[in-house]
Amino acid sequence: MQDATFALILAAGKGTRMRSDRPKVLHTLLGEPMLALVIAALKPIFGENILIVAGHGSELLRREFPQASFVEQSEQLGTGHAFMAAVPELQRQGAARVLVINGDAPLVTEADVRHFMEKGTAADIAFATVNLPDPGSYGRVVRRGQDIAAIVEARDYDSASHGEPTGEVNAGMYCLSLDKTVQLLPHISNNNSSGEYYLTDLVALALGQGLSVAGISCGNDTNLLGVNSPLELAVAEDILAARVSRQLLENGVTVHAPGLLRASPLAIIEPGAEISGPADICGSTHIHAGAVIASHCVIRNSIIHAGARIRHFSHLENAEVGEGAVVGPYSRLRPGARLLAGAHAGNFVELKQACLGEGAKANHLSYLGDADIGPGTNIGAGTITCNYDGERKHHTSIGAHAFIGSNTALVAPVNIGDGSLVGAGSVITKNVPDGELAIARGTQKNMPRRKL
Ligand code: UD1
Ligand code: MG
Repeated sequence: MQDATFALILAAGKGTRMRSDRPKVLHTLLGEPMLALVIAALKPIFGENILIVAGHGSELLRREFPQASFVEQSEQLGTGHAFMAAVPELQRQGAARVLVINGDAPLVTEADVRHFMEKGTAADIAFATVNLPDPGSYGRVVRRGQDIAAIVEARDYDSASHGEPTGEVNAGMYCLSLDKTVQLLPHISNNNSSGEYYLTDLVALALGQGLSVAGISCGNDTNLLGVNSPLELAVAEDILAARVSRQLLENGVTVHAPGLLRASPLAIIEPGAEISGPADICGSTHIHAGAVIASHCVIRNSIIHAGARIRHFSHLENAEVGEGAVVGPYSRLRPGARLLAGAHAGNFVELKQACLGEGAKANHLSYLGDADIGPGTNIGAGTITCNYDGERKHHTSIGAHAFIGSNTALVAPVNIGDGSLVGAGSVITKNVPDGELAIARGTQKNMPRRKL
């Protein structure tokens, strides 16, 4: 593709200030890695034309984002050096303009990027600025009159030669003409207090060569905050949570205690759903209109259909809850758990790779793993599918309209037929045919009581 516009995310840095072995951009806000949030803002604009510079913890990044395109920065020698590492691939793909953004800007939105691109395309090099009361560790924008003169990093800033800082800082988002920028790269040096190659040096270099440079003010918005430390991560996470709660309310989702809801911007919550905080809702979760989520639930990558109710203190991960089904309070739906329409999973019931058929009920204290349960079946309190023999997992199949008595162990692999009845306290090791009664427990003996 010729003359294409690309986005380049700088995500190779060590993130030293996070004091963590995990690459900084994999630290999460509302359950989503920072990098996922940045990609989500760029995807509608750039589609497949998104490249990520990886370096520190590169394998982890590649594993977490298997669909993404990466270039490697094998040594982390600064943001300018990260950009240089991407140039051959950008040229190979025919990039003309490149939107470069720091991977530690997880609050950025699609609208921010569009606004910046519209204003910045005319210049050879444009960068976004924000005004902060305390410029902290951000690069300071130096102007002569109205005109941009340079970006000077905080550690290299000297009021005597650069003037008193104005609070205008570099937000870490740039729009570059690739051809023009490439000519400047050999002139970036690491002769500064960090010993790094700064991308921000491009500004003064471009001006020195007579190129056009624009500093695009994005106000005092928090959307371009950079996250460098656990404290900044917590601040950004709170801002994002408040933003998402507000958007949900504006869209017509009923949210009780919105200040306590931690819903990911990547989850889909339809208007007409009802949610009570505190709750964590993240990943590719989809909550349909008419579903009701009570407080203290944690829901990740799950689908909740219309009219389903998730009652208090339930945990769901990679699960699906059908129309009108009821989960909880205190249920745990692990990956592969499915409740078809009208099914119930009650308190202290755990499902893993298991399907409760239409209207089936497991209301108390059960473990159902690697199991299929037919429609209308009742699973008594304390029923356990013994799915693991120490080496392998085995399947349990329970037919339609069966009744499993309380405190039953179903030793897999085993099939329980349609309409069958299993007596309470049984240990079932053999298949039960359709319509039969199975009892597998010690016979009760009654005898005179010994005199005390
Ligand atoms: C950077 C800017 C600063 C700006 C701020 C905005 C530079 C030199 N400074 O500072 O002007 O105000 O962002 O948030 O650019 N990275 C790499 N390879 C490296 C080093 C960093 O890919 O060798 C990546 C990091 O993973 C990070 C991004 O670049 O996502 C920015 O690096 P960071 O160390 O956070 O820069 P700041 O000090 O925040
Ligand atoms: Mg940063």
